[in-house]
Amino acid sequence: MAVTADTELSAGESDAILRAIHAESTASADLTPRSREVLDRALAEGRLVIAFVNGQLAGWGLREPLAPGVFELGYTYTRPEFRREPVFRVIAHKIVETPATYVLATYHPSMLEFLARELGFMETSLARVLIVSRGRFLTKRLSREARRSVGKRLRTGRPRYGLLK
Ligand SMILES: CC(C)(COP(=O)(O)OP(=O)(O)OC[C@H]1O[C@@H](n2cnc3c(N)ncnc32)[C@H](O)[C@@H]1OP(=O)(O)O)[C@@H](O)C(=O)NCCC(=O)NCCS
Repeated sequence: MAVTADTELSAGESDAILRAIHAESTASADLTPRSREVLDRALAEGRLVIAFVNGQLAGWGLREPLAPGVFELGYTYTRPEFRREPVFRVIAHKIVETPATYVLATYHPSMLEFLARELGFMETSLARVLIVSRGRFLTKRLSREARRSVGKRLRTGRPRYGLLK
C-alpha cells in the first residue's frame, strides 16, 4: 500500500480531518491530548504531518517547538486498521525533514530502537532532555489533562528518551 505524508490540506477537507485527528487522539490512552487550537496552529505552521493510505486518513504526528532549533517528535499515531504498513515510518521521516534537534519520549522500547536504526536517534536521559529543551519538555506536560494522561501510562510503563542532533 502506498503511504504518503502531507503537511498541507485543502481548505475543503481540513476541518473534517482535524476533527477526526482530535477526536481519535483524545480517545487514545497512548497520546497526551492536544487542543484543537494547538492542532490548527501546527497545521498552519506546517508542523502537523498527516499520513494517508490510498487517500484515507491513516495517521499523524507533530513537530512541536520546545526551544530555538529544538523540537519534539510527538503525538504520533497510526489508526489501528493501518498499523504495520508502515505509516509511522513515513511520518517520522517527514517530521525530521526540517534540520533541527529532535527529542522523543516513548513508552515503547522498540520504537526507540526503530528510530535509532532508521534516523539515528540516540537514547538519552530525562535530565538531558530538560537541558536541551530549556525545561519546556516538562512545562508542556503540566496541564491537568497532560498530567492525567502521562500518569496513567506511568502506571504500566517506563518512558525512554531519544535525541537526534
Ligand atoms: C506505535 C505506532 C505509532 C506504530 O505505528 P505503525 O504505523 O504500526 O508503525 P510502523 O509499521 O511504521 O513500524 C515502525 C516501527 O514501530 C515499532 N512498532 C510498531 N508497532 C508497535 C507497537 N504496537 N508497539 C511498539 N512498537 C511498535 C516497531 O519497532 C516498528 O519497526 P520494526 O517493525 O522495523 O521493528 C502505533 O502502534 C500507534 O499509533 N500506537 C498508539 C499511539 C502511540 O503509542 N504513539 C506513541 C509512539 S512513540
